[in-house]
Amino acid sequence: MTTLGTEAPAASVPPSSVHEVFRAVDAYDAHQKSPAIRLHVGEPAFRPPPSVAIAIATAAAAGRTGYTTAEGLGELRTALVRKLREHNGHDTDVDRVFVTPGSTQGLQAIMQSLAAPGTEILLPALHWPIYLQQALLAGLLPATYPLDDHLRPDLAALAGLPAGPKILVVNSPNNPSGAICDRRLLSELLELAHRRGWWIISDEAYEHFNYDGEVLSLAALEAERDVGERRVFSAFTFSKSYGMTGWRLGYVTAPTPRQASLLQVVQEATIVCPPQPIQLAGVAALADDDAISRNSSFVRANRDLMARALRGTGLMATVPEGGWYALLDCAATGLDADTFAARLLAEEGVALASATGFALRPPFSADSDLNAIDPSARHLLRLAFCGDRNALLEGLARLVRFTRRQCR
Ligand SMILES: Cc1ncc(COP(=O)(O)O)c(C=O)c1O
Repeated sequence: MTTLGTEAPAASVPPSSVHEVFRAVDAYDAHQKSPAIRLHVGEPAFRPPPSVAIAIATAAAAGRTGYTTAEGLGELRTALVRKLREHNGHDTDVDRVFVTPGSTQGLQAIMQSLAAPGTEILLPALHWPIYLQQALLAGLLPATYPLDDHLRPDLAALAGLPAGPKILVVNSPNNPSGAICDRRLLSELLELAHRRGWWIISDEAYEHFNYDGEVLSLAALEAERDVGERRVFSAFTFSKSYGMTGWRLGYVTAPTPRQASLLQVVQEATIVCPPQPIQLAGVAALADDDAISRNSSFVRANRDLMARALRGTGLMATVPEGGWYALLDCAATGLDADTFAARLLAEEGVALASATGFALRPPFSADSDLNAIDPSARHLLRLAFCGDRNALLEGLARLVRFTRRQCR
């Protein structure tokens, strides 16, 4: 058991299950003739368009390789403002847009810029585990909030929280569930945040992977308010939309000029600047409109194939509305999710992520267990359906075979 104490903040941070599964699968591959089918990780089958590789090579050859400002290159930020206005409906400007080495770093910077002593950060009961690590490192006080039957934020539960400085994290489309918050829920969350003086961090990493409904960005809903009164930070990434996971390119927006100036200080001290050739590659990616619709159609078709393959197995409670992941429920097999994942890997060479790692439950204290899990996740597993189609279909066939064996 790991507990909080008088050590450095990192000593209280639980390891990310996402990274732990990675290591387990690498260890499996090292001892097997054929590698595991990797359905545990959101690594897409598609890569960035050729114009992106050309842009980075051109930047390197032309010597555009020096430092930029901490906030990023003006030409990329100008292009991002255009995208944010035209695609997301934001009312923003270059001074409030920051290019970041992956949106992960942008999220960390936002948390650091908001980490006044005693500030709580509210994470969904099922959440991307990096949020929790970042919150603890920033000195925030993490707590989880319940989800409704559709795995969306439970508004009534949030409204019942006591007063105090808070940051609400909203992730739609969601990792790990694929749930999407509709306009009404987003408006109500925003209204609540304004009433209570909370900040919102809206993580829109999967903005372009929305299969059934409208794409809505939370900050667009406060575009009519005075800039000084806004509450929503937004985080976006090139990793998902353009298949640029290893390039490490994302961007975040600050709601107000004051918050932008705090973010700027964090970025100066943390990254000095995002790498210039990667930023120029980002300018090229933004110019390719077709890549996004191609990539989104590919993942949607994978989702549909997955839904068909799992029909009748009892594994899939709901078809994800967006994102790259589906939550599977293995309760009918009599196995818990950790055992199911370990045995599926050992017996069939298929890797899934147990959702228990997405359900750690703060607050942590000297006598609380860092490994406390939200009970709703005990039988849930996350399957990534964004990868190579043949590997996905083979992995699903093995998964169904394994599940049937347990249910006999
Ligand atoms: C919900 C969510 N937010 C943010 C990220 C970070 O992506 P990146 O740092 O590659 O931009 C991920 C990556 O898996 C994610 O799932």
